[in-house]
Amino acid sequence: GGGMAGILTAYYLQKAGLRTVLLEAARVGSGQTGRTTAKITVQHGPIYSTLLRSFGAKAAGQYASIQRRAIEAFAELIGEEGIACDFQRLPAYLYTADPAGVTALRQEAEAAARAGIDAVFTKETALPLPVKGAVRFADQAQFHPLRFLEAVASSLTVYENTRVQKVKGGLLHTNGGSVRAQYVVFACHYPFLNLPGYYFMRMHQSRGYVLALEGASQLDGVYLGVDREGFSFRNSGERLLLGGGNHRTGENSAGGKYEELRKKAAALWPQSREIACWSAQDCMTMDGLPYIGPYSPSEPSWYVATGFAKWGMTNSMAAAILLRDQITGRENPDGDIFSPQRFTPGASAKTFLEDGMHAVRDLSRRIFSPPKALLEELPPGHGGVVEYDGEKVGVYKNEEGELFMVSVKCPHLGCQLEWNPDEKSWDCPCHGSRFDYTGRLLDNPAQSSLSPV
Ligand code: FES
Repeated sequence: GGGMAGILTAYYLQKAGLRTVLLEAARVGSGQTGRTTAKITVQHGPIYSTLLRSFGAKAAGQYASIQRRAIEAFAELIGEEGIACDFQRLPAYLYTADPAGVTALRQEAEAAARAGIDAVFTKETALPLPVKGAVRFADQAQFHPLRFLEAVASSLTVYENTRVQKVKGGLLHTNGGSVRAQYVVFACHYPFLNLPGYYFMRMHQSRGYVLALEGASQLDGVYLGVDREGFSFRNSGERLLLGGGNHRTGENSAGGKYEELRKKAAALWPQSREIACWSAQDCMTMDGLPYIGPYSPSEPSWYVATGFAKWGMTNSMAAAILLRDQITGRENPDGDIFSPQRFTPGASAKTFLEDGMHAVRDLSRRIFSPPKALLEELPPGHGGVVEYDGEKVGVYKNEEGELFMVSVKCPHLGCQLEWNPDEKSWDCPCHGSRFDYTGRLLDNPAQSSLSPV
């Protein structure tokens, strides 16, 4: 895949002397890497207190060490290759505006410090919000991900518009021919093969929304709120990126996520002006840690990098370094915590039950729940699952009244798709595949578009 993880992995393997070929279904950077807010931080939400509680001090220290090394690797690579990508060092903050959230942030500051990170609790921030507490992580970074990616990709052999359709051992079949490889790395966001590996049973996807504003503040760092209604902030030159509205992919039938952000922008910076909006999604594992390493015991030459849980920059770099080390036989003991074959029942139990419940509900809904509306009742500019000719179909009616009718059966494993009015897309609640209103495939693990009706 031609996103951050794939490009960096190919780059480091090539640098280690291997001959690499990168296959990308669309264009380099056209997936989630082109939509990230590109914070390069060891601060990944309140993760260190969670790691300490669920995995222990050693794992928290390993996670911190991998992420710190990833930031330094970005700085080194950008320096060595002379990449102009607006790389900038600055602090990263977690904040709460809720007095009840202060204790958890104090614990996070302590846990992060214990893991070896320069992190302190503070009440001083540059946010125009009534912040009750924050954790400041010193010396983090941000950059322009696509400028960086383009420069790194320019030294690689990349085939764009080349979708891998089947993989058998070291033979990859694509729409444009076949490739034989000694090693195969699946760095394609969500692995599209169901077996082996069973990644579809171990991950769902979560979607988030971003506005780019002109005329908002210049902040002193990057920010992330830990409250239910927490927001993400970072500057990009004169502009400010405001993020939020996270939800499980396939669960936004009411819409309004961009409106929430617009309301917040108007309240914080009434003089600001929106110049762009977009959304992205990421893979969430059951225990919250990425899967980086051997794909499955039954395919010893396959590797995987996925499940970055919204922290795709440092985790992509971590994946590239760990996979290079594993493939070239270098020692890297810290990588154990990301092993895709790990067994962490304690840390995984809650998500395992939730994901299982979703799969059962969303598979059975397609068969048992009747649509709520008839086709004629759908107003222009809206989409939904409706009854048409005694059948359940997905329909989008544009402002001119033109109809786009598709099957609502997800081609991945058959769950019922849900309409996302914010993106005018059909989204799958089971594993996060997405399709535009004409049925064209947008996001994997599905490999094909929707059947038109
Ligand atoms: Fe798996 Fe839809 S993404 S069933």
